[in-house]
Amino acid sequence: MKLSVFGEKFSAGAGILSLMDDLGNALAEGGKIMMGGGNPGHIPEIQAVMAARLRALSEDGNLLRRLIGIYDPPRGERDFLRNLAALLRREYGWELTEENICLTNGSQGAFFLLFNILAGVMADGGRRRILLPMAPEYIGYADLGLVDDFFVSVRPRIETMAADLFKYRVDFGQIAITDEIGAICVSRPTNPTGNVLTNDEIAGLSRLARENGIPLIIDSAYGLPFPGMVYTDATPVWQEGMVLCLSLSKFGLPAVRTGIVVADPGLIRLLSGANAVVNLAPGSFGAMLANDIVRSGEIIRLSREVVQPFYRRRMERALACIRDCFDGLAYRVHVPEGAFFLWLWFPGLPITGRGLYERLKRRGVVVVPGDSFFPGLPPGWRHVDECVRITYAQDEDEVRRGIEIIAEELRSIG
Ligand SMILES: Cc1ncc(COP(=O)(O)O)c(C=O)c1O
Repeated sequence: MKLSVFGEKFSAGAGILSLMDDLGNALAEGGKIMMGGGNPGHIPEIQAVMAARLRALSEDGNLLRRLIGIYDPPRGERDFLRNLAALLRREYGWELTEENICLTNGSQGAFFLLFNILAGVMADGGRRRILLPMAPEYIGYADLGLVDDFFVSVRPRIETMAADLFKYRVDFGQIAITDEIGAICVSRPTNPTGNVLTNDEIAGLSRLARENGIPLIIDSAYGLPFPGMVYTDATPVWQEGMVLCLSLSKFGLPAVRTGIVVADPGLIRLLSGANAVVNLAPGSFGAMLANDIVRSGEIIRLSREVVQPFYRRRMERALACIRDCFDGLAYRVHVPEGAFFLWLWFPGLPITGRGLYERLKRRGVVVVPGDSFFPGLPPGWRHVDECVRITYAQDEDEVRRGIEIIAEELRSIG
């Protein structure tokens, strides 16, 4: 079969796809300790809220018809959009209405649309790219561009902190915004590091974007207002010219596939046009499931009082376990400020992070090699090969066992 350039993007040879396959196969073989994926944990309180809502939806003929029997408008379920706009106005004072919000089938799909609307081959024939101002960044962006050479990313400053911690900081001195940049994008909290960009860093990026007439896209899949996996006092921001991407996935509904984009009405109209062309309409399920807790604001309370403490506790236990097991080894951990990952740095590691990943896989522990998280960064930075990402969202005993095996393997490498 002859493939278009577009078709080839999805062939098994693509870098990230082969890694994902590898992770998927490792999982399918069974008996593995899975510290690789981005699946959220299963929180009983959240599942109980959803079970009750599902019962209510299935018992009310009217609601059931809206849930399964009617295409929503291309921007998504109206009532949900109105309730979410009201919640964001009430909670943060943002000046927005439902015209500022569009739903997508997962936020991953929103990034595909946003990135390719704002960069690539431009309508005037020019070329633009997406700037990731601080690598490492989310692996899932890497293959989203419809043309090659789609991202530019910038090395962070590394600040070593007390004990065994370190923190990446945006290196504003290294960021150059040329006419070739179509948008700036950051995940906050950052996947893979658990970093939360400070309010000052966000203000700096926002200023750069505004001065250059391009959008700043903030990927808040793990952040505020929900699911709220943030352990610092970071403030959520949205203002005209900014794009805030939210998701119901990490709140506990990854299979429901609901992404939410908050942006200027012009961009929202483009996204809803793309929804209409590609999907006719976004699915109603997530919007209908979450509508009540968005209307009441309960989604924010649950995020603050249930979801955040659940992951924070797991993070603290995983970090304590690392300190126990890694004693005497050359390692540092990125200060865990959010999400559910620990980013481990082994300065001077005699093999690569990918080599370590292969060795751990043979021992039944699946992590993600750090070099996957630097799309758009010019080669030649040793640090890229000294890191791996682990997730602490899954079973706590398994996380402990996994960390013990990583420590054994590191000691055997010497
Ligand atoms: C940083 C980040 N952004 C976006 C997504 C996409 O999530 P979803 O498509 O489930 O909304 C993920 C998923 O892991 C993620 O880690």
